[in-house]
Amino acid sequence: MNVKPLHIVILAAGKGSRMHSEQAKVLHKIGGQSLLSHVIRSAEKLAPAQIHVVIGHGKEQIQTAFSHHTNLNWVIQERQLGTGHAVAQTLPYIKGPSNILMLTADVPLLKTATLELMCNAMTATSLVLLTADVKDPSGLGRIQRDHSNAVVGIVEHKDASAEQIKITEINSGIICADSDHLKKWLGEIGNSNAQGEYYLTDIVEIAANEGQPILAVHPQTNAEVLGINSRSQLAMAEREYQHLRAQQLMDAGVTIIDPARIDIRGEVSVEPDTIIDINVVLQGPTSIGRNCHIGANSFINACVIDDDVSVHPNCVIEQSKISSGANIGPFARLRPGTELAENVRIGNFVETKNAVIAAESKVNHLSYVGDAQVGRDTNIGAGVITCNYDGANKHKTIIGNEVFVGSDCQLIAPVEIQDGATVGAGSTITSKVGTKQLAISRAKQRLINGWQRPIKKPK
Ligand code: UD1
Ligand code: MG
Repeated sequence: MNVKPLHIVILAAGKGSRMHSEQAKVLHKIGGQSLLSHVIRSAEKLAPAQIHVVIGHGKEQIQTAFSHHTNLNWVIQERQLGTGHAVAQTLPYIKGPSNILMLTADVPLLKTATLELMCNAMTATSLVLLTADVKDPSGLGRIQRDHSNAVVGIVEHKDASAEQIKITEINSGIICADSDHLKKWLGEIGNSNAQGEYYLTDIVEIAANEGQPILAVHPQTNAEVLGINSRSQLAMAEREYQHLRAQQLMDAGVTIIDPARIDIRGEVSVEPDTIIDINVVLQGPTSIGRNCHIGANSFINACVIDDDVSVHPNCVIEQSKISSGANIGPFARLRPGTELAENVRIGNFVETKNAVIAAESKVNHLSYVGDAQVGRDTNIGAGVITCNYDGANKHKTIIGNEVFVGSDCQLIAPVEIQDGATVGAGSTITSKVGTKQLAISRAKQRLINGWQRPIKKPK
């Protein structure tokens, strides 16, 4: 039984020229998370002794983006002389007999099960390749097999003969090797090839010539080995990834009206019997409870949503906490710091920010409630504005329980409206309204008989 420690090497030093980007290729995102972070997450699941990441192009950008990852050994490859040269840079950090799993940061959809399959195969050999039979192998390394079907080499697309180009079994770029052999093989590779690079893939022919058995294992689906070299491959991988995320939610009991029209980014959990309509974007960290209904075209970012919540179509909800039974939208915007207690109703064209609203209260139409605390069973009429900003500073509005604020009022903060108070429609409130008081500040109505409206002048 082979029980050597596992070291994982992630290659991320290349330029990614085909992306035409100022940003390092591996920082481009799928499902809201960088390609490199997907690969690191898969690597971490194997609980390796250490993860080594080879960086070169855009190394400062990458290290800054991952500064919170303290478990990574960053290895700098000053000049990008090829994948074999890149792996060789990590060897001084890998002491003692180990298995070395080499991943590339531009292949983000690999399943842990597939990597485990490769690691397990190491008990029988010292070199395992992940290969796949694909429809379009262009640009990729081709697997060469002899008449007995044994793997004997990999030839890169640019070096392939007309005959070899026709081979459809490709190298995914993911290779696992025993450290002692790998050190020896890497010492033997050269760079006399079409790209003048030290190819990692050349170790396969060396191993075959030594008579080493070489195992080729395959992923469950070819999508797993999709490599990202261009924006269109990035978009393809995004769709594949979204398909997987939607599938996971459906398998766990969530109804998704159309799994091709949902986007899930980062850590998102949804409980069973919730229904998600079309074109919804869920961005993590977000959790949604049971029996919720998320209406079409809603964007939900960094929220905690309890059970039995209805979000009607076209809502934007960010960094908010929504308790059970709340009913939101359509067309509501809940900005950061919004906290809705049980059964709160937020209607159309309402904006909230830093607003804590207690149970059973209603803000039904066209209002702005910002930097506010609202009690329970309170009704805020249409078009009410908390005037929280004086042009320099923000101020708080405090509204008690069982308050009724009539339509079209301005509450000039800082201001307090105490329990049971009533504010007449059209009022501008500038000072405290006491318990059960009525405050009304609109101009008294005048009536002028026979009023003649202006008449349009003839042209
Ligand atoms: C590589 C494989 C090819 C395989 C394909 C799968 C080699 C020689 N070829 O080709 O057989 O089919 O991946 O996607 O290995 N990198 C470095 N330093 C370097 C060069 C590359 O770190 O000096 C990194 C890149 O950032 C990238 C990875 O290695 O993450 C692969 O390099 P890339 O140039 O994309 O190789 P491919 O041409 O795709
Ligand atoms: Mg590549």
